[in-house]
Amino acid sequence: MKQVIQLNINGEPHEVMAEPHDTLLGVLREDLGLMGTKQGCDTGGCGCCTVLLDGQAVYSCMLFAMAAQGRKITTIEGLKSNGKLDPLQEAFIQTGAVQCGYCTCGMILAAKSFLSESPSPSDEQIRGGIAGNLCRCTGYQKIVDAIRMAATRG
Ligand code: FES
Ligand code: FES
Repeated sequence: MKQVIQLNINGEPHEVMAEPHDTLLGVLREDLGLMGTKQGCDTGGCGCCTVLLDGQAVYSCMLFAMAAQGRKITTIEGLKSNGKLDPLQEAFIQTGAVQCGYCTCGMILAAKSFLSESPSPSDEQIRGGIAGNLCRCTGYQKIVDAIRMAATRG
């Protein structure tokens, strides 16, 4: 049976009706229209549904929306501030790290989480940081370049 749940998304409070089994991914896309969070495998295998939960990267397809109550949820729509893109978003554009773009939002949020803990990573550490996110287009090197560029710019 649907119940009211309260979610804090990108700094804004939201109230939605959700079933106990509704995933955060489903609520973000279908109830709130936040389509930047992508649906891929829906089984925790691709990472394109990644969002931040209290700053930590999580697969939103693997999290019940109810379990996200009381936590700070950040989606790709919430990364820019004062009308400016996040340095990671800028770097992905500048290095050409986006092809079809399906992995990009999840990749950027995974990188955001990773860089908050490792602000000056080696390329190997960057690859480890995005190991839970698959990209079928780029071969990963430009993604690594983008994350390194963003890290260098601080
Ligand atoms: S859609 Fe969530 S990990 Fe693939
Ligand atoms: S850019 Fe297409 S899957 Fe990564």
